[in-house]
Amino acid sequence: MHEANLSEASYRLIHLTKQYDPFKLDIPHIDLYAGQIFCLLGPSGAGKTTLLRLLNFLEPPTSGEIHYEGRMYGPDGNVPDITRMRSITTVFQRPALLNDTVYRNIVYPLKLRGQPVDPEHLDAIVEPLGLTDLLGQRCKTLSGGEAQRVALARALIFKPRVLLLDEPTANLDPRNIQILESMVRDYARRQKPTVVWITHNHFQAKRVGDRICLLEDGNIVEVNSREGFFEQPAQQKTRDFLDGNLFY
Ligand SMILES: Nc1ncnc2c1ncn2[C@@H]1O[C@H](COP(=O)(O)OP(=O)(O)OP(=O)(O)O)[C@@H](O)[C@H]1O
Ligand SMILES: [Mg+2]
Repeated sequence: MHEANLSEASYRLIHLTKQYDPFKLDIPHIDLYAGQIFCLLGPSGAGKTTLLRLLNFLEPPTSGEIHYEGRMYGPDGNVPDITRMRSITTVFQRPALLNDTVYRNIVYPLKLRGQPVDPEHLDAIVEPLGLTDLLGQRCKTLSGGEAQRVALARALIFKPRVLLLDEPTANLDPRNIQILESMVRDYARRQKPTVVWITHNHFQAKRVGDRICLLEDGNIVEVNSREGFFEQPAQQKTRDFLDGNLFY
């Protein structure tokens, strides 16, 4: 079982770049810690999804090093072994669900990993997400908010050590946003995963983030604690961003 250890980074990014001419993501150094929600803020095209794809090992970096759980991965395309890969999951802005029932979508990751369904554990996930009465329903008939709640249930069912969220609440109403936020925060508190949460909304970052990173045009403007970022930002650009005077 994975133990949270705040003194040791679960990811360490060193001199990491990803080049898509003319765009270049350039990360001199970021450490991510288990048990923390790391929020990525920044305007469209800043490189937020690009960074998430590197953390998910969907693409190799152009240069630099990604240390994940103590092992180094670089531009050669080498990725973690299957067990480590399956400890990482992503929830996207638009849920990609199987054309099947809610129940079968949620338990699919367990099936993939050859793990049995623990009814109590299932209930502890579907109940707070308000999915108990929908388990038999076909996913294609769900509302957007319901579908996104199913996507989160499916991500949490196998207790991922890394939860990557790419604007999961962008299309949702306030009630659904609240359900998702409290579910992720609760999961982070109990299981101590590494969470990276991309959002356009700095109010959301303030509600859920332990550390906040502002990206602009592939570069880090500032990485700070929630308090530091919102109360005493180190960079003028961060202040401008929070005042709504930058990018928008
Ligand atoms: N596979 C790719 N090939 C070429 N260019 C790409 C590719 N993926 C991303 N880019 C470019 O990299 C830049 C950053 O894209 P990215 O998707 O990371 O931005 P983002 O911060 O997630 O933006 P948004 O908030 O709109 O989702 C953009 O200019 C984009 O066009
Ligand atoms: Mg994006």
